[in-house]
Amino acid sequence: MTDALVDVLARRINHEKGDAGVVVVTSRRVARIYGRGFLDPLCRAIGAGKPLALPDGEDRKTWDSATRIFDKLLANRIDRRGWIVAVGGGVVTDMAGFAASVFKRGLQWAAVPTTLTGQVDAALGGKTAVDFGKGKNMVGTFWQPAFVCLAPAFLATLPDRELRCGLSEVVKTGVALSPRLLKRLEDCGEDILAKDHEKLCRIVAECAKLKLVIVAADPLDRGVRAVLNLGHTAGHAIEAAGGFQKWNHGEAVAMGLLVIASLAVECGKMKPEEKRRVYEIVERLGLAPRIRPGPEDAAPFLHLDKKSIGRRIQVIVPGPLGRTTVKTIEPGELLKEQYWSWS
Ligand code: GLY
Repeated sequence: MTDALVDVLARRINHEKGDAGVVVVTSRRVARIYGRGFLDPLCRAIGAGKPLALPDGEDRKTWDSATRIFDKLLANRIDRRGWIVAVGGGVVTDMAGFAASVFKRGLQWAAVPTTLTGQVDAALGGKTAVDFGKGKNMVGTFWQPAFVCLAPAFLATLPDRELRCGLSEVVKTGVALSPRLLKRLEDCGEDILAKDHEKLCRIVAECAKLKLVIVAADPLDRGVRAVLNLGHTAGHAIEAAGGFQKWNHGEAVAMGLLVIASLAVECGKMKPEEKRRVYEIVERLGLAPRIRPGPEDAAPFLHLDKKSIGRRIQVIVPGPLGRTTVKTIEPGELLKEQYWSWS
């Protein structure tokens, strides 16, 4: 796959950037697996030097890593016409996009997401960020990439837990926007978990299309784009409660989805059997961890949500499947004990 991919990418990048400089940003893991076969030939073909390989992990989405990108851009004398090509997961694309948005007041950039989370969510839509203080993605910008290259072939080497993490965003997209996507997960869940290439391509294409329609309608996240945060209010609090280690983003979002689905049943938006269906999909995809958080674990972190309005929080309430409504609630409403014991 990689020769053809290098060729397509290099032609597109060279066509768009002309003789401007370019820096490739990646992660150490991606550099280890795809260095010789993909990154080196790509760098040669687009006239970039050695790629900058940042340390892996959500806890490395820091100012320090962003500073290393700025250092590399300076060292390579990138001017305002310059480009960044980000090849990696959400941490790499978020940080590279952030650096592109602020360096010399804005460079062009392209994203080549190598994880399922990146291909169905993180790399699409121009949200860029670094973590700061206790809040995830606390500092960032909206800065659309010139293009995003979706190549599900990268998923062949993705660890299973990372694949499941991405599937959580697919479940979210299905619950929020597309019963058809949920049906596909029900029909092909096992094949997808086994990394069937054709099935992964369909899921990625379908999910990306659904997301991009929303992004095109609301690129700056001032309205309808909030729907993509379904499950994320409780999800982010769960992730923080586990110190960003115990549960990964996907597991936390899947649990957040079940919490908000329970609230949706209570307020009559979702039928109990719809919630049951969501639970079964989450369970089958291996996204319902045995050790689960309780409301008391999440409570201290709910107010950190970027969408909070004063002491109240904005949540996306699902139901019926494929539709949502926005509701502003007291944090306590999300913390009812019965919402946190699913199944
Ligand atoms: N990940 C949600 C969004 O891009 O809006």
